[in-house]
Order: sequence, then C-alpha cells, then structure tokens
Amino acid sequence: MRTQVAIIGAGPAGLLLGRLLEQHGIETVILEQRSGEYVLGRIRAGVLEDLSRRVLNEAGVGARMEAEGLVHDGVELAFDGARQRFSFHDLVGREVMVYGQTEVTRDLMAARAASGAPTIYEAENVALHDFDAARPRVTWRKDGVTRELVCDFIAGCDGFHGASRRAVPEAALTQFERVYPFGWLGVLVDQPPVSPELIYASHPRGFALCSMRSAMRSRYYLQVSTEADIGEWTDDRFWDELRRRIPAEAAGHLRTGPSIEKSIAPLRSFVAEPLRFGRLFLAGDAAHIVPPTGAKGLNLAVSDVTYLSQALAQYYGERSMAGIDGYSARALRRIWRAERFSWWMTTLLHQFPDRSPFERRLQLAEFDHLCDSRAAAQAMCDSYTGSPL
Ligand code: APR
Ligand code: PHB
Repeated sequence: MRTQVAIIGAGPAGLLLGRLLEQHGIETVILEQRSGEYVLGRIRAGVLEDLSRRVLNEAGVGARMEAEGLVHDGVELAFDGARQRFSFHDLVGREVMVYGQTEVTRDLMAARAASGAPTIYEAENVALHDFDAARPRVTWRKDGVTRELVCDFIAGCDGFHGASRRAVPEAALTQFERVYPFGWLGVLVDQPPVSPELIYASHPRGFALCSMRSAMRSRYYLQVSTEADIGEWTDDRFWDELRRRIPAEAAGHLRTGPSIEKSIAPLRSFVAEPLRFGRLFLAGDAAHIVPPTGAKGLNLAVSDVTYLSQALAQYYGERSMAGIDGYSARALRRIWRAERFSWWMTTLLHQFPDRSPFERRLQLAEFDHLCDSRAAAQAMCDSYTGSPL
C-alpha cells in the first residue's frame, strides 16, 4: 500500500490534518489503534478559540458547530466566593465557541467517511520505519496479518501515549515536563448549566470548574488528590463538594442528576522538541500536553496541523522545503505561549498541597489585580481566546 502522508492517530489532530491535506489534493491514510466507537467515547474539553472555529469552518466541517455550539462572550473567575466576569468582546474584541471535542471529532469522522479517504481502525502494533530516509514506512497488524504502508511523510498524531514520539531516538528529543500534584474529577450530567458562562472557582477546599456541552448538558470538575479513588466519589459526594467550592449564589441554582460520565485526569505540562525528525512530524498531544485549565489542548492540535498542512501543501505544490523546515519552530512558538498560559491559570486557581499561606496570598493578589486592572484582564482574555496564527 502506498500514500503521500501516513497519519498515525484518528483523534482531532489526525482527522483534521487529513481533511486539510485532502483540500490540497494530498492523499493520506490514517492508522488508528482503537475503534471509531472508542474514539468517540472519550470526553474531553470543549472551548474553541476564534482561530480553531475559523479553521474548522474553512475545512468544511463547521456546520453543526455553528448550529449547535454556544458562543461565549465572557468567562467568570471566583475566589473564595467573590465572582468577577470578564467580557471578551469588551476586553479583546473576540469570543469563544463552546462545542465538545467529541463532537468536533464526530464531524471530522463523518467528513472523512464521506470523502472515501481511508482510515484503518483497530490497527495493532503500529510501527514507524525509515523516517530518516527518503521512503518512510509504517507497519501494523490487523486481523492477524502484518501490513505495510509506504509514504513520503509520516504525521505522528497519536497522542501522548502513542508510538510516534517513542520511535524517535532519545538523544534526538528534548522533553520538558511538569506533573502537578492533583487531578481533575470530571462529571457529565444531563441538566442545564448552572450559569450561562464558564465559572473557574478557586476555593480553600480546591479548584472547581462549571462548564457545559449544550443548554441541556453540563460538565463539572473538581480538583482532587492524585491518589483519589473514583469509586469513593459517589454522585452525591461530588455534588456536595461542588456546592461548597462554587459561589453560594451559583450553588443555589445547581441542577444535579445521575452522572453520565465520571473520570479522573492527571494534570501535566509537557513539550517534546523538536517536532520534526527527517520525514516524521509530531503534532497535537503526541508533542505536548497542557493542563486543562486554559482549555488549550484541542486549540493547539488545530494550530499544529494547520501549520503542518500549509508546509506539506507548499512541498507538494512548489517542491519547496521552506515550510517543512520551518514547521517545528513555528508551531513551538505557539505551543510555548499556550504552555505558559495554562501553567499560569493552573497555578493561579488550584490549591497546592506543599504551598504556604504566602502563596495563597499571592493568588488572591493576582485575582485582585485581574479585577482591578484592565490591562491585566486584557492579557488574560487575549491568551484565553487565543491570538491569530
Ligand atoms: N497507533 C495508532 N493510533 C494510536 C496509537 C498507536 N500506537 N496510540 C494512540 N493512538 C490514537 C489514539 O487512540 C487516539 O485516537 O491516536 C489518537 C490520538 O488522539 P488524541 O489523544 O485525542 O490526541 P490529538 O488528536 O493530538 O488531540 C489533542 O486531545 O487530549 C486531548 O487535550 C487534548 O484536546 C486535545 C486533543
Ligand atoms: C470542559 O468543558 O470540559 C472544559 C472547559 C474549559 C476548560 C477545561 C475543560 O478549561
């Protein structure tokens, strides 16, 4: 089997890259280790920057997002019960679109299925070969048979635990990492959101986030210890704890119900550099992880593959290596800015078990500054809504 670009992973990064390349007439094959159903079962964040929204629309997969997504003009921060709203329109002239990553993935999958471009699901033992030479190959096993794909380039879009980054010799990679001493316990519930906009709440008992998927479906998170046992978090315990951490007025409006999904995710900041090794590129979670506090994970996947698709289009269109040579530095600049912002939001809002009362006072001073200084609020909203490419 032969193609121009082999894409490893059918998450949002891999599927969107396939779509953008298809628009340039570039052939791809996607290899995914899980089933399509499994991929669509994963619940992830759901805040799209203006740029991501534009890219999805230009890729022709934005119709349902525009019809069903919720446009948000602002966000709230709460500290020990005190609430402050930040208007994106007023402060930076932008907005965000609240539309779940699962739905983005569903729309991308439908577009790919309609185009007839091949996606091979349940591909086992995916292995990358010869990407430092002219003719890279990918092998995998399916139905007990080993198969091979010969290509010009490989795009590693297989997430943090994928095979692509691990195929790179250790000496060629520099990895930066911070693991936070807590996780997020998330609950999805079929009830209207507690408030029309997101509330990020810092509280002495720990951080909490009120988010949503639609007018009838809400998503809530609680900061929990890294040792937390999900079995001990009954729905009732979750709702009681959430009510204690969010502002009293919001707690009074909280509509609870049986959880339809409940999971704990660790918080990590991670970057692997560079993003290109000969004819292999890394994009999305394969190259970097942000803690979810800034809602940047999906947006970074979108900007990475936008840059990569432009580089590959330049190669096939003009036989120019300029975009390919520049991909890593161009994408990393945006990645590090999102890393900084996500680390800053995480540090601002969470309780760190090893921190002193001094650091809590600094968090409160920072919140005070955001409430009081238009420049500080603008800086936060500029990063939250995302700068243009
Ligand atoms: N072979 C083939 N596919 C693999 C392999 C492998 N060895 N390992 C992982 N995969 C698949 C996973 O099953 C998954 O479907 O690669 C896909 C990677 O998708 P994501 O983890 O969603 O990563 P990405 O597409 O980069 O999207 C980034 O996901 O984690 C969130 O916050 C993150 O929103 C961001 C987005
Ligand atoms: C979510 O809705 O899942 C969500 C929203 C904002 C975040 C993180 C997660 O910062």
